[in-house]
Amino acid sequence: MCAMISTRTVTINAAFLQEIKDVHQLLWVTLDSLRQLCDTPVAAPSYLRQLTSLLADLRDQLALHFSLEEAYGYFDDPVDVAPHVSQRAETLRNQHQELYLCVCDLVDCCEQAYDGRQFAIAASLAERYRDFHKRLVVHEEAESELIQEAYANDLGVGD
Ligand SMILES: [Fe+2]
Repeated sequence: MCAMISTRTVTINAAFLQEIKDVHQLLWVTLDSLRQLCDTPVAAPSYLRQLTSLLADLRDQLALHFSLEEAYGYFDDPVDVAPHVSQRAETLRNQHQELYLCVCDLVDCCEQAYDGRQFAIAASLAERYRDFHKRLVVHEEAESELIQEAYANDLGVGD
């Protein structure tokens, strides 16, 4: 019996990945609204209701965004790809699930707090959102860097 060694590689389709980011304006509006809300002092009960609603929107928009990126912005087994590009692409693609689950957990916590009228925890949820926002921004910047490098090196612009 021999062990299977994965030799799959991953890269991006830079043009599609950039286009997905460009056209998904609703996502950026929601992120901006959440950032503004979470940067202001908590004023319960409307604060928690707003936070819950915006996070639920973000969860649904991220599900679509990540699905589109994975379907059209990334692809497996390109003809030729540098190992360091493939590793970064794989790492970034894998971050989607982690980021999505994080925002799902935030929505659940908000809904439970709202149902229980536990408005006092809104501030800690806003703090958790700010951490999530930073992670998502780092992810988006890393994808944009990879897109720019792909254009510069003519890698991953098509398959
Ligand atoms: Fe992404």
